Amino acid sequence: MDNNIIAIINQKGGVGKTTTSINFAAGLAMRNKKTLLIDLDPQAHSTVGLGIEPESFTFSITDVLTRKTPIRETILPLRTENLFLVPSHIRLDKIEQQLAPELFRETFLKKAIDGVDFDYIVIDCRPTLGTLTINALYAANFIIVPCEMGRYALDGFADLMETIEHVKNADFNKADFIRILLTKCDSRNKVSNDWIFQQLEPFKHLIFNTYIRRNEALNQSQMAQQSIFDFKADSVGSQDYEQVVNEFLSL
Ligand SMILES: Nc1ncnc2c1ncn2[C@@H]1O[C@H](COP(=O)(O)OP(=O)(O)OP(=O)(O)O)[C@@H](O)[C@H]1O
Ligand SMILES: [Mg+2]
Repeated sequence: MDNNIIAIINQKGGVGKTTTSINFAAGLAMRNKKTLLIDLDPQAHSTVGLGIEPESFTFSITDVLTRKTPIRETILPLRTENLFLVPSHIRLDKIEQQLAPELFRETFLKKAIDGVDFDYIVIDCRPTLGTLTINALYAANFIIVPCEMGRYALDGFADLMETIEHVKNADFNKADFIRILLTKCDSRNKVSNDWIFQQLEPFKHLIFNTYIRRNEALNQSQMAQQSIFDFKADSVGSQDYEQVVNEFLSL
């Protein structure tokens, strides 16, 4: 099975979806893979996080989902070689509601990206399981679920896995299309880490061997509107995202 369209999904907020989308996409681009990052979140954090200001572009993912503009006309080149972006805008929020009565609304993104010429497409999702996220799930052939190593890490996790199972008609026992990525890890939090690992036991075979450690440079890179590789190449965050890209490419 192909694994070139990757949705970064978790309906829980602030777990590292955007940080992972930006740096995973940038990591693929660094490996000479022509990579498209689609910002599918009205918060537009991937867009702003890569230095694209909300009023600086004409077309966004909104125009793609309303089928006004072909996706290729919305693609912006970025400073990083091989990395391209379909930007998002707060208007996308309204579009999600407008799509609600439309037939086949969950398949619009899949149809839109059909035939675009990239080695990899990475989709940053909003923290809900609504129409936009379901569009990403339909379009994707690989799913990364960032899971923050914290007390509420597994809130809603069962619902999320159930949704993925349903949309992808999946069997998690032999699932080669999904990986859980542990983020903001701190080995000093032994008790809470042990608790999370216990809860994740049924999904243990789906966890990437690479963990993303808590690293202030990752936080700062988002404010500096750069990938971690451009912002601080020798940081822990840079090492971890490079390693998870390598692990993914070796799957
Ligand atoms: N490994 C990490 N170490 C330190 N800070 C991190 C790490 N990963 C993410 N962060 C910070 O945590 C915050 C939330 O991360 P991020 O925006 O990636 O989450 P998200 O899941 O995309 O959030 P949302 O659900 O709102 O879209 C950001 O300020 C980000 O810089
Ligand atoms: Mg985000």
